[in-house]
Amino acid sequence: MSNELRSLLARVESSDPDTAKELRRHIDALQSRREFGLNFERHTPESVALTGRAISVGDKVRFIPVRGQTEVESEATWRVVELAGPQTKRVAQLVDPKTNEITSRPVDDLVYIAEFKDPVFPGLVRSDEPVLRGGDKPFHAVINAENYHALEAMLFTYQGTVDCIYIDPPYNTGAKDWKYNNDYVDGEDSYRHSKWLAFMERRLKLARQLLNPRDSVLIVTIDEKEYLRLGLLLEQVFPEADIQMVSCVINRAGSPRTGRFSRVDEYIYYVFLGGSQVEPWTSTMLSDGSELGKMTMPTVWFTAVRRGSGASRAESKSLFYPVIIHRETGRFIRVGDPVAKDVDRASVPLEPGELAIWPLGAKGQENRWRFSAELMRNYFEAGTARLGKRDAATGLRPVTYLQPGTLANIANGTFKVAGHTSEGALTLELVGAKTVAPRTVWSQTSHFARDHGSHLLAALVPDRRFPFPKSLYAVEDALRFVVASKPNALVLDFFSGSGTTAHAIMRLNKQDGGQRRAVCVTNNEVSADEQRALVARGLRPGDSQWEALGICDLITKPRIRAAITGLTPGGDPIVGDYKFTDEFPMSDGFDENVEFFTLTYENPALVELDLAFERVAPLLWMRAGSQGRRIDERSDTFDLADAYAVLFNVDAAADFVAAIEKSPASVRIVYIVTDDETQYQAVASQLPEGVETVRLYESYLRTFQINTGRA
Ligand SMILES: C[S@@+](CC[C@H](N)C(=O)[O-])C[C@H]1O[C@@H](n2cnc3c(N)ncnc32)[C@H](O)[C@@H]1O
Repeated sequence: MSNELRSLLARVESSDPDTAKELRRHIDALQSRREFGLNFERHTPESVALTGRAISVGDKVRFIPVRGQTEVESEATWRVVELAGPQTKRVAQLVDPKTNEITSRPVDDLVYIAEFKDPVFPGLVRSDEPVLRGGDKPFHAVINAENYHALEAMLFTYQGTVDCIYIDPPYNTGAKDWKYNNDYVDGEDSYRHSKWLAFMERRLKLARQLLNPRDSVLIVTIDEKEYLRLGLLLEQVFPEADIQMVSCVINRAGSPRTGRFSRVDEYIYYVFLGGSQVEPWTSTMLSDGSELGKMTMPTVWFTAVRRGSGASRAESKSLFYPVIIHRETGRFIRVGDPVAKDVDRASVPLEPGELAIWPLGAKGQENRWRFSAELMRNYFEAGTARLGKRDAATGLRPVTYLQPGTLANIANGTFKVAGHTSEGALTLELVGAKTVAPRTVWSQTSHFARDHGSHLLAALVPDRRFPFPKSLYAVEDALRFVVASKPNALVLDFFSGSGTTAHAIMRLNKQDGGQRRAVCVTNNEVSADEQRALVARGLRPGDSQWEALGICDLITKPRIRAAITGLTPGGDPIVGDYKFTDEFPMSDGFDENVEFFTLTYENPALVELDLAFERVAPLLWMRAGSQGRRIDERSDTFDLADAYAVLFNVDAAADFVAAIEKSPASVRIVYIVTDDETQYQAVASQLPEGVETVRLYESYLRTFQINTGRA
């Protein structure tokens, strides 16, 4: 019973004992009734070890195992009362606040602990060179972070604006895949479900604040261990949402379960907020071959090599010329000039790194193209000629084109130009192609996790293993149903593992020319096997050799880089082709941009000293759409980038306002640095209409202070 109720009851008791007795009877009856729904312990304080964070007096710390060992002498959280000794051999005096026991430890054997109620100042630092292949498109982001803190930081950048969240959380199958915090989640513990639920609930509550309440979808994949509890949890966190569950076959051979059904599927919860809708699609998804559109769209790309009578090179003076591609990536470079009949094609000069495609017949004989070099150039320019799948042995690609009848069908509306490939070729759709509402059971070979998850990942980042990536095409389909008609969607995955979600978003963008943005967050934990091997080598988290084997550094970042560049980390063109909805060589890559960040934990001393602008700079840029130049350094007055501006000194307000008025309309957000609300309002009121203003504290990181016990 709450204190308030108790004191009210005491007041009634003193004036009217009979009524008080009656009231107490009703209250007792109510209290004995169990709350309907999911009941679980929420009070376990979740904590996170901030490996690498410098330790100061007053900090909370834990022991880390002595090198070579996995066990620690004490699991307690200690407080540092004194630091002594030279910088390299510092020793901390510690007290256990629960027992008042006193001890000391080398600082090297301690790790900083943040409990989820302690204030933390998050920053973002660029951790790797970005990939820039997308021109002025917005950037995707890959963030190495504990996702709770990343989600909290994103309340600043994305509150209420995310179109779709896709997550594939750890499934709580035991300590093996619960590496996150062994102290908090223990495979043998009978509270395992509570702990998993509390862990998920905290993050889902933050996710809820990020999603656009008017129109967005949360997608959560889950296996048989937790799907029942997850369903109830989703209902509790999103009481206003419509929730559906899809059963998705990911392994038709089945995982045997003794005395039970062999498991072939996993479950996908869709949580629909506001007016969000499932887009109709050309397949029911019930089985391979349930595609409708594919059956009706005829083949329209035909070879540009002349076949049959009159096809040989000798028949024409001007129709034997090379189409030149990049030797490494296979991408189109240019169309060469016609070659005289008596010139050996091998003697035609090429620039370094170029490869020539000649019009050869099926037996390798020299044929001719169907049309002139000039027309071929025009066709490539217009997207009506294109290059097909790369031959693994020769690196060559077939040249195909759209025939006049197809162009006429585009003009008369029979076919619709749905978009362009990354190389600029048209993608066509049959207008009125039949579409249907996809069903709740999906059985598609394209969704098999081994073939299109593990094997595909192995082609992108050879020799690096990641347990259980999703099939790229399964994630692509799952997302397509909710972001197909949102070409600028912001999509977040905060358990992103190998980065399949960002990869799938890039494929969707390529299919329809969209500019969707993916934000992928994952921690840098090592696999259980790796952990054992590293401990045996005397290594510990925080050591560079350990961190280099973490998921984010070893898999996520290199995989996204490889997907965009078309090159493996070793610099070789990726071998193999994308399949299903959009087929092309993986070595083609994507015309996309990505930035790589690590979430940092800033020292409060720096925060006070106001020295941390560069740590929050990426967050300001992300809030403004992750597009164009980023303002990375403080200036004495103000700075204007493409999509946003920062006024660092309100004394420069007049010049700032004038500069904003003159700037192109692309400035959407203005950040005003001041601790004074009146000054902030004064500047904000002078800015042009439609520009969003955001106030930042002069101690920048105060704006981003998290862990104030909200979740
Ligand atoms: C099941 S995997 C996701 C796999 C992903 N869907 C794919 O296709 O590769 C879950 C991932 O979440 C990460 N993870 C678990 N707990 C986390 C946390 N608290 N913060 C950030 N990442 C976490 C793990 O490192 C793991 O890679």
